[in-house]
Amino acid sequence: MSLHKKTDLKRVTTHQLQEMKNRGEKIAMLTAYDFSMAKIIDGAGIDIILVGDSASNVMAGNETTLPITLDQMIYHATSVVKGVKRSLVVVDIPFGYYQGSSGEGLRSAIRIMKESGAHAVKLEGGSEVKDSILRILSAGVPVMGHLGLTPQSIYKFGTYTVRAQEEAEANKLIEDAQLLQECGCFAIVLEKIPAELARKVTAKLSIPVIGIGAGADVDGQVLVMQDMLGITKEFKPRFLRRYADLDAIITSAVNKYVEDVKMKDFPNEKERY
Ligand code: KIV
Repeated sequence: MSLHKKTDLKRVTTHQLQEMKNRGEKIAMLTAYDFSMAKIIDGAGIDIILVGDSASNVMAGNETTLPITLDQMIYHATSVVKGVKRSLVVVDIPFGYYQGSSGEGLRSAIRIMKESGAHAVKLEGGSEVKDSILRILSAGVPVMGHLGLTPQSIYKFGTYTVRAQEEAEANKLIEDAQLLQECGCFAIVLEKIPAELARKVTAKLSIPVIGIGAGADVDGQVLVMQDMLGITKEFKPRFLRRYADLDAIITSAVNKYVEDVKMKDFPNEKERY
């Protein structure tokens, strides 16, 4: 292996992400929930892989992220970690496993780190979850914050519309972002907020800010992999750019396979023992 390749394979760390922000290099982040896809996107150069609780929607078929359990998140994270050589793997602590007490938050984070081999955890919320964040950080576990449209609070919001459009909510978001940085979070995600507000927060913070539906003036972008690959066709928010139409590609491949089996064209002479 050449020296160049060895350097390419160096694992992404939270420190490197900070250096990327400092030199203005954008951070590319995607979700993954299984070994095979994690291996592909890691090899394709993604910086951060998020084992998101969006697994509840795209893997388990639930309407919201609320039902997924800690055991299920650890199962997904363990599979992802096995497929990854370079990316930083961040795992969502799911709903109900950190809001009750900081002790519970710490126990959940430790289970994720110990059992899956992931590199960091992500929590939704600001001042409300400060104690859990501090306790997890005190154990040496890197924490990524998440503000704006936080899907674990969907029943409080009542809708998946853009958050922080009113001044009061925007001011609370700015305060929370500063608080997360002061606590020691290594980065935050801003989801579905006005681009101008995301720009303001990104300029104020020294830690990396990763956006989803938060415009271009942030330090990096994250998308749910199934959405950007065109597997979840019904989901069409304005912020989503589709990079492939896997639904069509898979449908056409399966149609052809069914046809070949029915027509006794598969397997052929060369595909037998
Ligand atoms: O669970 C998830 O996929 C997320 C991203 C949308 C940021 O939290």
